Amino acid sequence: MTPHRRTCTRHRDRASTALAALGLLAALLSACGGGSAADTTAATTMAATTAATTAATTADTTAPGSAATATEAARVAAGDLLFHDTRLSAAGNLACASCHVQARGHADADGVFLPLGGPALDQQGLRSSPTLDYLGDNRAFAFDNQGRPSGGFTWDGRADSRAAQTLGPLLAANEMAHASSAAVVARVRTLPYFAQLLSASALDTAASDAQVLQALQQALQSYQAGDPDYQAFTSKFDAVQDGRASFTAQESRGLNIFNSPQQGNCASCHTSTPPPGQTRALFTNFGYFALGVPRNRSAATADPAFFDMGLCGPVRTDLAHRTDLCGKFKVPTLRNVALTAPYFHNGAVTTLQDAVSFYATRDIDPARWYPVADGVVDKFNDLPVAYRGNVDQQPPFGLQPGQPPRLSAQDVQDLAAFLRTLTDGFVP
Ligand code: HEC
Ligand code: HEC
Repeated sequence: MTPHRRTCTRHRDRASTALAALGLLAALLSACGGGSAADTTAATTMAATTAATTAATTADTTAPGSAATATEAARVAAGDLLFHDTRLSAAGNLACASCHVQARGHADADGVFLPLGGPALDQQGLRSSPTLDYLGDNRAFAFDNQGRPSGGFTWDGRADSRAAQTLGPLLAANEMAHASSAAVVARVRTLPYFAQLLSASALDTAASDAQVLQALQQALQSYQAGDPDYQAFTSKFDAVQDGRASFTAQESRGLNIFNSPQQGNCASCHTSTPPPGQTRALFTNFGYFALGVPRNRSAATADPAFFDMGLCGPVRTDLAHRTDLCGKFKVPTLRNVALTAPYFHNGAVTTLQDAVSFYATRDIDPARWYPVADGVVDKFNDLPVAYRGNVDQQPPFGLQPGQPPRLSAQDVQDLAAFLRTLTDGFVP
């Protein structure tokens, strides 16, 4: 349970809320396991984006039922209960909050490598649980007018909204492990606060299974969109922006390196200025890049023939023909990143300092990151050889072994110090 239940008045997520109206469509299109909206065609995605834009001004009235009694606050409260309820899993032992821990920026529980789920909590997931914070501005996956992929939920963007995403964990065998959405609905009907969920969505006891499922999805989305814990903007970085605190010399150096196109160049993907018309930076552009992070040691990668290639599959299936996208994963926000270890989509890196070091030394000291056989470094070993050319080479990358580093050991420490100023809950 979150410590407070203030109702958010920021409305950072109006379009996403509107998208929930389409959530059921995405649900019907989604496959089991990854819970993907993978079959969603580009046309559907575009339609969803357009619908979200047109519905944005009336977002609060697009939820199921939409009677005057169905307030967003009631949906946020119902979603809060659902999110923390282990009864939402088939075996009754795993909640959304089990893998998305508030004290860890709503990411993995502390010290966990990849999340465990399934009925006996012994099935290892494929990917690290990402932070759920600061997703209010994220939109359905689409290609922009220059053909660049952006938006979408999960590391490969296959869910069009947070409402659509909920079916992924509910139905995945290694997560909450329900056999079908009918089984999910049957469970939801037994919850002691079921009547509260119904009234929050302006439904009554005659509600159909499809309506109950949509109410569940909407409540979980409304909770993440409306609970201020997910968009607190209470970091030291924010306090400095507001003139209520100042950076240490090291943190200032770190910020300068972060922004400098010749050095960290971090801000080119982890945007450090607010989106147009807003006041707070989100530290992501919601784009997709291949960084070539090292292969992890996990249940999935025990099979040498298995590769998680992000946008081009195999979890996501609609872009399998786009081999130019293999290895690309969504740029995560860096807000609260000090809390969200392990790092990268496969959790291959354990500490924040090492995650930053990866950028500094991937190309000048690859043997630090990848296996070496007969003196040859197997660089980018978590991608098939054919797709290793997709890996990003712009600064801070793109150097050769032996060249002077773009980022010194001191720079790495300064960057990490700056990243720690992005943790919410700063008290000046
Ligand atoms: C067993 C651990 C586990 C459980 C339980 C779980 N998640 Fe997740 N969550 C993950 C992982 C792993 C990912 C990344 C999945 C991927 O990229 O394919 C994820 C991704 C997400 C995302 C996408 C975030 C983004 O940046 O796009 C959202 C939203 C989310 N989860 C919400 C939920 C909700 C709501 C529930 C409960 C219905 C839930 N999760 C249950 C592990 C879990
Ligand atoms: C070309 C775009 C790009 C640039 C430049 C970039 N990043 Fe990233 N960053 C990403 C992507 C994409 C991921 C996720 C990659 C993955 O998991 O495979 C990521 C992940 C991370 C993570 C792990 C976050 C998590 O939740 O797991 C950290 C930390 C990070 N970046 C810090 C930095 C720093 C510091 C810099 C500058 C030195 C930087 N990034 C530059 C695109 C970029």
